[in-house]
Amino acid sequence: MNPLREGLSHRAHPKPCNVVIFGASGDLTARKLVPALYNLQVDGELPASTRVIGFARREKTDESFRAELLDAAQKFSRQGADPAIWADFSSRLHYHQGEFGNEEAYASLAKRLAEFDRDLGTSGNRLFYLSVAPSEFSGILSLLEKYGLNRAAEGCWSRVIIEKPFGKDQASAHALNEAVSNVFHEDSIYRIDHYLGKETAQNIMVLRFANAIFEPLWNHRFIDHIQITASEPMGVEKRGPYYDASGALRDMVQNHLLQLLCLVTMEPPADLRPDSVRDEKLKVVRALRKKDSNSILTDVVRGQYIAGDVMGKPAPAYRDEERVDPQSQTETFVAMKLQIDNWRWSGVPFYMRVGKRMPKHGGEIAVHFKRPPGVLFNSADAAPGANVLVIRIQPDEGISLRIQSKRPGTQLSLEPVKMDFHYGTSFGRPSPEAYERLILDAMVGDATLFARRDEVDAAWSFIDSIEHAWHAEDAIVPLCTYPAGSWGPTEADELLARDGRSWRRL
Ligand code: BG6
Repeated sequence: MNPLREGLSHRAHPKPCNVVIFGASGDLTARKLVPALYNLQVDGELPASTRVIGFARREKTDESFRAELLDAAQKFSRQGADPAIWADFSSRLHYHQGEFGNEEAYASLAKRLAEFDRDLGTSGNRLFYLSVAPSEFSGILSLLEKYGLNRAAEGCWSRVIIEKPFGKDQASAHALNEAVSNVFHEDSIYRIDHYLGKETAQNIMVLRFANAIFEPLWNHRFIDHIQITASEPMGVEKRGPYYDASGALRDMVQNHLLQLLCLVTMEPPADLRPDSVRDEKLKVVRALRKKDSNSILTDVVRGQYIAGDVMGKPAPAYRDEERVDPQSQTETFVAMKLQIDNWRWSGVPFYMRVGKRMPKHGGEIAVHFKRPPGVLFNSADAAPGANVLVIRIQPDEGISLRIQSKRPGTQLSLEPVKMDFHYGTSFGRPSPEAYERLILDAMVGDATLFARRDEVDAAWSFIDSIEHAWHAEDAIVPLCTYPAGSWGPTEADELLARDGRSWRRL
């Protein structure tokens, strides 16, 4: 190994391009997208002549747009906003005012992009970021097509990143997929799921396939069950109307949690090409056992928070949140048991829970191994706990393994201890934000961490089985309640208790 090569990146370098963000006056642009682009610049990853063009309805100038985004970067960028770097970065930020349905705005956009290509070296490459309500997608796409913005000159590319929600059920996702694929080729469509960009999510494959000790145990012979939790103290903030029409199942399970489940359970891909990885994930989603009117009652708990206290502060009931229907039946919490019908996972239950207004922010995957047999140290009256491998997605990203140890002393008694790896201390530098990695991947043309059309379709087909069972005319599925600041309805504990198990404490 040449020491001078150590730490050199193996990835392709992105080519300069125009990044056009539709919906640029929204929250996502200020909190995530522009801070991500800025941090790429700080880390020397953003090609020098890249231009970022915000397209939105409100009246703004380049200057006022830049000033607003500086405020946002100071608040939300993980590396702050250094005045000299920001000055350079912001000189490449532009604002393009227009209604999404106004043809002239696209004609002038096409002209502006061509000028940037000619004068500023963006070389005809385009990355369109649709950070808008799904109802706007097809209108924007057809005008991009009309003005030829979806077509790239020889040797250049034109790609589109689509923000979630990607549909609200299988039928609407299908219609959306049709609309996008009429305008862009599948290779140029990047359906974003920011969980896939999280450092710890990417590490799941490395943990499983770059270490020899886990994979032989990674199956129904050694694993008792797996728990996946995503909890947030936040409520619905300013997104009441969206969330109330969506609910936790569509908002978090259909995308983020199913993606994590796939990474933990898929077979090793033949290689690391985007389609090889996505083929394996797809097989998992297709093997998920669908819910019917019986299993929905035993395997799925839906909950909604009532007033309570979160992290020492009073929190209102969901129905009293801003712009939420006071009679809302939308779930803010889901817990469920899943089964994957394949050889590797036969008989292994997967428990997932996700909720808003929970006691703390956390995301983890806990792999519970089978208990050791009751011999030697493991007598029935002092049966030790099982080994648990915890992959902490956030915060305090890392991995820990619980093992049994002899407690020091003259007596022989056992106590579980943890072997712990923390990203923060092991690598001594913070991980890039998910959006940094994903935007860069889209610029490079690597779709591995984006959802493919058939994956999205299969995920919706599974979610639809739950939604249909919940909302069937003769459905008697209760909407349970839980106080804000608790770990969800007691019914979620009963779900595991029925199987002789309990949720891991985060
Ligand atoms: C988004 C959901 O996709 O993910 C939000 O729409 C949720 O409701 C968010 O709050 C959680 O993301 P993270 O990265 O904070 O876990």
